[in-house]
Amino acid sequence: MMFRLDGKVAAVTGAATGLGAATAVALAQAGADVAISDKPGESLDDTEAKAAEHGQRVFQHPMDVRDLEQIRKGIAAVAFEFGRLDILVNNAGINRPSPGLEVTPENWDDHFNTNVKGGFFVAQEAAKLMIPQRWGRIIFISSQSGLIGIPGQPVYCSSKGAVIQLTRTLGVEWAKHGITVNSVAPTFVETNLTRKRLQDPEFLSFVLGKIPRGEVATPEDVAAAVAYLASEEAGMVNAATLPVDGGWTAW
Ligand SMILES: NC(=O)c1ccc[n+]([C@@H]2O[C@H](COP(=O)([O-])OP(=O)(O)OC[C@H]3O[C@@H](n4cnc5c(N)ncnc54)[C@H](O)[C@@H]3O)[C@@H](O)[C@H]2O)c1
Repeated sequence: MMFRLDGKVAAVTGAATGLGAATAVALAQAGADVAISDKPGESLDDTEAKAAEHGQRVFQHPMDVRDLEQIRKGIAAVAFEFGRLDILVNNAGINRPSPGLEVTPENWDDHFNTNVKGGFFVAQEAAKLMIPQRWGRIIFISSQSGLIGIPGQPVYCSSKGAVIQLTRTLGVEWAKHGITVNSVAPTFVETNLTRKRLQDPEFLSFVLGKIPRGEVATPEDVAAAVAYLASEEAGMVNAATLPVDGGWTAW
């Protein structure tokens, strides 16, 4: 059996819904115990129930990734619960599209505080546990928007470009500790983040016209790529970004 995660402990941020929820379930299905977190007040019960169906231990805790104290306490809670942390999926993220001329400083800070600064400091806290173990997998959910420009979302695209650079740099820096750092770059997936825009026939037609495969991705498509990157077999894949985009960014 390849790509099993038995005996591993995984943490997934932003796991209440969407890609984070699907990823938590996929990692549990592959055999990992999972710690799931989201902003305080977001219910993780549905994700917990679906992940637990696979017979693994599931632990939920609140953690707003914009708050460094919550990150410190959240990762410490995972270590207390499971005694280790092997896999981190930095999934929590926001996208509040705004054309360049209308971007406000608040919109800029919201994206960078959540998508970049938040993800970085969760990774830093996780790496402190992984380094003594001499094994770790850190997987950022970046986006195809970090590889190309998409009109109407200059700040989101910039923040995801920064995530891809963090992936490269931390992957290079932490490889000597047995840690790989990679990112998965999905195309559009229908979730709370995108549903409204994808329901606009004109926008959907623009999106589908860009994806050679002719369909948007599913949360499970993204989760499967994460599960692969988390596996022992992916150990030689490091500092890389794996598009799950049906070919959008290839042309
Ligand atoms: N849906 C897509 O088309 C798509 C495409 C490419 C990349 N992504 C990325 O995938 C990730 C997940 O997106 P999704 O589509 O599942 O969105 P979503 O809105 O369905 O889920 C995002 C989750 O992150 C949580 N979150 C937001 N801010 C947070 C914070 N400060 N602290 C902790 N949790 C927080 C939300 O509460 C939510 O549960 C994001 O990083 C997003 O940028 C999504």
